[in-house]
Amino acid sequence: MKTTVRKIAAWKTQPNPEPLATVTAYDAITGRIADAAGAPLILVGDSLGDTALGFDSTLPVTMDMMLHHTAATRRGVRDAVLVADMPFMSYQTSQSEAIANAGKFLQLAGADAVKLEGGRIRYELIKALVENGIPVMAHIGLLPQSVKQYGYATKGNDESDLFQLQDDIWAVAEAGAFCVVLECVNPSFATELTKFSPIPTIGIGSGAGCDGQILVISDLLGLSDKTPPKFVKRFANLFPAAVSAVSDYAAAVRARAYPEN
Ligand code: KIV
Repeated sequence: MKTTVRKIAAWKTQPNPEPLATVTAYDAITGRIADAAGAPLILVGDSLGDTALGFDSTLPVTMDMMLHHTAATRRGVRDAVLVADMPFMSYQTSQSEAIANAGKFLQLAGADAVKLEGGRIRYELIKALVENGIPVMAHIGLLPQSVKQYGYATKGNDESDLFQLQDDIWAVAEAGAFCVVLECVNPSFATELTKFSPIPTIGIGSGAGCDGQILVISDLLGLSDKTPPKFVKRFANLFPAAVSAVSDYAAAVRARAYPEN
């Protein structure tokens, strides 16, 4: 069944809603898998950089790369809300550039919404995007695009962090974001923030108390031979299965057993 941004925004108003099980995707194949599995929201994350594109962070990812992969994912997704991640330096330089770039995701790549990193600091920008008809998923806690400044440390380890995160959630919700990612926030703080938040919280590495979860699809499928972050559960282990299938194919070709005639 088709999900919409408005349905996700209204999630907290339902009696006993089911947690939102969301996932990333990067192309038509992974988008199709996530959509067929019934994910209500699929994010073309800029984790594209350190997964499918083989970089060691999200920083090298550009608008062109994100537009290309969002359009490809769109071709595999029918029912889920498709969110495109705004890459590093596509929204930080000026509000007008940010609106123009966000608009490209809806207009050229078929996204339903965009995601960007930052809380209170993005208040004006989120408000402007929403007022111009561009739905926004916010992202607070650990911010991978700020890794050079703050590193990959978890957030929410003291009371001042909690106040900061509460203020961030309040700001993005007030500005009109329809949901917010909490990345690597201390789970007890994430549970508190979720009770306080007027919009659904989508956790990654932030424990079970969030309104929903998101995982990087290649992590949950075990598609890579790299060690995933500690909080990841692999629901399949496809890397060795894929290596074995390709090895079987190669052996069959070498033995002239495939093709059979
Ligand atoms: O880029 C990404 O995949 C993300 C999610 C992990 C939230 O930002």
